[in-house]
Amino acid sequence: MHKYLVLPLFLILTTLSYAQPEKFRLTYRDDPSTSMVVGWSGLSGILYYDTIDNGTNWAAYANSQNIDRTTSHKALNNHFVRLSGLQPNKVYYFVVRDASNNVTPRYSFMTLSDDPNDPMSFVSGGDSRQAVFPESCNCRAARQEGNRLIAKIRPDFIAFNGDYIRNYDVPFTYDSEDDWEDWFTDWELTVGPDGRMTPMVHTLGNHEDAVDMDKLFDVSNPSVYYATNFGGGLFRLYTLNSEEDACTNTTQTTWFTNDLQQHNTPSNTPHWKIVQYHRPMVPHVTGAIGGIVTYSPDQDMIDCWAPLLEPNDVRLVLESHAHVLKTTYGLKYSTAAGNHEKLIRDDTTGAVFLGDGSWGAPLRTPITPIPNFTRDVESLDGFFFIEVNPDSIEIRTVLFQNVASMGQLTDDVQGSGLPSGATIWQPANDTVIVIRKYPTITSTFEPINNAEKTATIAPNPAQEVVTVQFKQTLNEEVTIEVYDAKGQKCQSFMNVRDQNFKLDVSKLCSGVNYIHIVSKNDVEAHKLIIAR
Ligand SMILES: [Fe+2]
Repeated sequence: MHKYLVLPLFLILTTLSYAQPEKFRLTYRDDPSTSMVVGWSGLSGILYYDTIDNGTNWAAYANSQNIDRTTSHKALNNHFVRLSGLQPNKVYYFVVRDASNNVTPRYSFMTLSDDPNDPMSFVSGGDSRQAVFPESCNCRAARQEGNRLIAKIRPDFIAFNGDYIRNYDVPFTYDSEDDWEDWFTDWELTVGPDGRMTPMVHTLGNHEDAVDMDKLFDVSNPSVYYATNFGGGLFRLYTLNSEEDACTNTTQTTWFTNDLQQHNTPSNTPHWKIVQYHRPMVPHVTGAIGGIVTYSPDQDMIDCWAPLLEPNDVRLVLESHAHVLKTTYGLKYSTAAGNHEKLIRDDTTGAVFLGDGSWGAPLRTPITPIPNFTRDVESLDGFFFIEVNPDSIEIRTVLFQNVASMGQLTDDVQGSGLPSGATIWQPANDTVIVIRKYPTITSTFEPINNAEKTATIAPNPAQEVVTVQFKQTLNEEVTIEVYDAKGQKCQSFMNVRDQNFKLDVSKLCSGVNYIHIVSKNDVEAHKLIIAR
């Protein structure tokens, strides 16, 4: 806080007490279709809001709400109004009036649809900071460009993967209070020309702490791990705290495990499950950085979080921390011999990993040799634009380039694409990554047209063993899955190419069971009766 050291005390008090309501930010604590936390710093005030744009005429707004929570943190007085009972898929306009009747500029946000058939698009990225001795980088300028991109793209929300600031206290030059002051100042660049603001789902990085997340953003859990349901079942976004040990912090990992399983039942399964946290399982940078930090696979996370992903149909993982752009093919946990990282490629059932955080952080040297499951990696500033539909997810990497000349979106349509002129990363392997819908237990179990099936199941009814007999030689590997009558997955066999695949059904319960034959583009369902 060097700049305050040279100021008289009364100026400090003036700074803290009389700053206008400013540094606005939006956080989800609850359902993004019906709630919003509006936060700001500076003077306290009353929030006025409406689905009608009344400009700065605060008295015309239909609704008002007092502050629900105030914190004093990082030399900022922070106020939070927790709005609930909002209408889905609506634009809300708001102003804040302070005790002196000063009224802020008029801002707006949009609640999200609660219909899982409506597409949604969000931005994922992380790692921004100042250039602070001994680093020399163009970091803050890059962060500001990324923030201006948000204003132009107008995503439905931002999944920020952690490391907002640097938070290395350098005595008498710069500290985390200055860092946060500048972060919030730069965040104002994300506000659109019409006052539109973008909500955030916050992740804890290693350069801030959980108290920062709680007191600066009013996150729903001060331990900074939670799940957020988007689009009434379109997808469930898990935010994990990778500053906690994955294996020994059993509270977090048990919660994660239980929640995944609770959302794997026929009546309670989102179309997609997405996970974000800060530290990558496999950082895509090389060796020691500045002689201090060594990046190697995080075996703790791989051992205790990775095994939960594929069995629970997590198809997308968002990471940061290592300061490169990386994309992978579908990955799943495997202890197969020779696989020292315990992650192997599986494009049918695995999760695509995006990373590694370059929203204005010192870019680093990509990993060598590149793991065989890596799609692309490069040292560039950028973030991911992710479009989620019920049956597919499309991912484009937007570079922080040519921002001034690109188009500006001003529509109120959820799930809009990118504006014209956006610079998309075009690496060797896929400019657009598409994740196809993999069958979840919400898919139809009843066979629809037996005549078109590629395989027969015999005998049926069965007791001990059945044969899945394919009518033609398989050109690609398929997965065979067995579900019970309640839709719970009982068995799964990967990489099947055997034209007469023998299936041990001796442990299945009597009655109706279902066999799914999963290929790259299709799922074929068979009903199997077990009679004993
Ligand atoms: Fe980090």
